[in-house]
Amino acid sequence: MRSHSIAVLPGDGVGPEVTAAALEVLDAAQDAFGFTTERTDVPLGAEHYLRTGELLTPDLVERLRAHDAILFGAIGSPQAPPGVLERGIILALRGAMQQAVNLRPVRLYPGVPTPVAGLTPQRCDLVVVRENTEGSYVAEGSAVHRGTSAWTAVQESVNTWYAVERAVDFAFRLASVRRGRLTLCHKTNVLVEAGALWSAVVEEVGRRYPDVETDYVHVDAMCMHLPVSPERFDVVVTDNLFGDIVTDLGAVLQGGLGVAASGNLHLGGRAPSMFEPVHGSAPDIAGRGWANPAGACLSLAMMLGHLGEGEAAAAVEGATAQVLAELPALAGAGMGASTGELGGRIAAAVAQRPAVENSLM
Ligand code: IPM
Ligand code: MN
Repeated sequence: MRSHSIAVLPGDGVGPEVTAAALEVLDAAQDAFGFTTERTDVPLGAEHYLRTGELLTPDLVERLRAHDAILFGAIGSPQAPPGVLERGIILALRGAMQQAVNLRPVRLYPGVPTPVAGLTPQRCDLVVVRENTEGSYVAEGSAVHRGTSAWTAVQESVNTWYAVERAVDFAFRLASVRRGRLTLCHKTNVLVEAGALWSAVVEEVGRRYPDVETDYVHVDAMCMHLPVSPERFDVVVTDNLFGDIVTDLGAVLQGGLGVAASGNLHLGGRAPSMFEPVHGSAPDIAGRGWANPAGACLSLAMMLGHLGEGEAAAAVEGATAQVLAELPALAGAGMGASTGELGGRIAAAVAQRPAVENSLM
């Protein structure tokens, strides 16, 4: 029987709740599609950090490297100093595993309420390819006269041809099997040096993909176009910070942060990719069963696709879409739809292999 080794990192806040739901769905997918997984629990997160002072260690990196994929919940806690867990765990993992791109589909499933009036699933089907290892996320920054009125902070952004090129090439490849359209999103009119590099990479790589049409949109304009006319986008490629920002906006179109999924993809075959819902640890609602497990389940679907379990991936995506479409009725009927109950419904639907139009897979 096919077997995949998976490191499971539930993390903090609602992370463990949505991960438990996703694992129940994974169990159902294994039963229905005839494969197994070997799972290693990774205790990283706020509690572990506060108890041991430990973040991602070199030893753990080596142990995680041996896995086929990482299923990630969420990291972040008000009990830890700002940024310590995020930088020390999520960003450290993306860097250590050289997860070159963060693939974030912006896809509205049928029947899911969206705050954008008149938006339809047909009009909202794009993918953001976020460069995942550089930009302002890696520059350490510096400050002088901290704590005085002369306090001056410098926070730069790192952009290498190497990392930008591999992200842009991935985006072109994706566009060439989708609708053949790639949009570079940046701020070249202000960030002229980084912008020039990104534009040059898109121009050069684009020559290898003559069938893909390219265009350019400033990131501020992107925030206007995305809610109004998402249909003009197919694949959007952008830097780490802009990608972080526009995908939260994208998540709103999809019906909220709870629905959005992502894959941190290693492209070289030497380290695992990592799949995580776009939402954070949401400590304010942790432990109540209020978190929507859809983002975690769709991330699981992306992981299954990545592991070569295409049929299971499509079934998990279809089951999640089906339960998402039932949600308004459940809520309207006053039925509590807790994280666990929704996970159970998605798991139960997997075996029926519900199809979804325009699958992510
Ligand atoms: C995300 C998150 C992270 C990011 C944080 C938690 C560091 O917002 O995955 O989008 O900024 O990348
Ligand atoms: Mn984010």
